[in-house]
Amino acid sequence: MARRTGSDDDAHALDPALASDEQRLEASLRPRTFEEYVGQGKVVEKLKVYVKAAKARGEALDHCLFSGPPGLGKTSLAHIITAELGVALHVTSGPALEKKGDLAGFLTNLAPRDVLFIDEIHRLSAAIEEYLYPAMEDFRLDITIDSGPAARAMKIDLPPFTLIGATTRTGLLTSPLRDRFQIQERLDYYTPADLERILTRSARILHVKLDDEGGREIARRSRGTPRIANRLLRRLRDFAEVEGTGVITRSLADTALRRLDIDPSGLDQMDRRILLSIIEKFSGGPVGVETIAAAVGEERDTIEDVYEPYLLQEGLLTRTPRGRVATARAWEYFGKIAPRSTSQGDLF
Ligand SMILES: Nc1ncnc2c1ncn2[C@@H]1O[C@H](COP(=O)(O)OP(=O)(O)OP(=O)(O)O)[C@@H](O)[C@H]1O
Ligand SMILES: [Mg+2]
Repeated sequence: MARRTGSDDDAHALDPALASDEQRLEASLRPRTFEEYVGQGKVVEKLKVYVKAAKARGEALDHCLFSGPPGLGKTSLAHIITAELGVALHVTSGPALEKKGDLAGFLTNLAPRDVLFIDEIHRLSAAIEEYLYPAMEDFRLDITIDSGPAARAMKIDLPPFTLIGATTRTGLLTSPLRDRFQIQERLDYYTPADLERILTRSARILHVKLDDEGGREIARRSRGTPRIANRLLRRLRDFAEVEGTGVITRSLADTALRRLDIDPSGLDQMDRRILLSIIEKFSGGPVGVETIAAAVGEERDTIEDVYEPYLLQEGLLTRTPRGRVATARAWEYFGKIAPRSTSQGDLF
């Protein structure tokens, strides 16, 4: 997952990755129930059915894999599902599970039907991953006692449990691991209307004065991401209190967002830098993501996890077998005229 740390708050106002000082804030804003969880309608409707059915049968919910860019609500869903199931949540992450014993520790501490949440599950080592397979499939752990000639294989029965995995991209998972999740859902970027509802709720919880048009402006410029919307709400409150009337209005939002380098379409500096470098340095593409990363000075993973999905969904970028291409829309965005091949959509 993309994690960046930075000293310059403003430059990172649009970074969907979670800064450490934000964790407490996120906890206070995290939706607690399916009803509070805004948007992702189709996913939520299905999950409600699965949770209800599992509960009625007294069984563990099937294993779930949630994917999607940072800050879209994967962790929140894991919390909500666990609460609805009325079981305990055990939280860990791919990089934290270094040794088999780390995973065994979690698995042997589960009560029947509990949820084990593994964040950044694509970062599990191959050895741990294989160790996980029988646990997921047969609720069984294969362990080896002693080593050398005295080594013995032993099987430990585990209580039925639910594994919830979260990842920024399912493509990063090996297929044997992916196949063992019976429920797989991708979270999409939120609509401005959904983000407006999230902002209204957050403003109420944080006692921030936000008028309707101010909320609409922030929602439009939050890259479809609840985490960013909530972060901008806090930033803009500062501007409203110090330089405005204390209320976040549309004009205050617009002025402050421009100062945070978030343009009227909601693109941030890095979004623009990526598109401009494709257009200016590589004649619009196709160009490989590795080359783009070097040109803009950002990590390849961050580009693929954070920036590219949004630019793709906004129709500013396309992927071709030979690399990334800036669309005609991207050229227009910068007031440039696209070469004929791009404007005709002749990308392949
Ligand atoms: N559907 C939603 N409704 C309301 N608020 C939401 C929703 N989804 C996310 N949020 C807000 O965004 C914050 C970030 O969500 P969350 O931590 O669940 O994202 P994530 O997908 O797990 O991100 P990461 O990939 O960085 O772990 C939450 O604390 C919450 O405030
Ligand atoms: Mg998370």
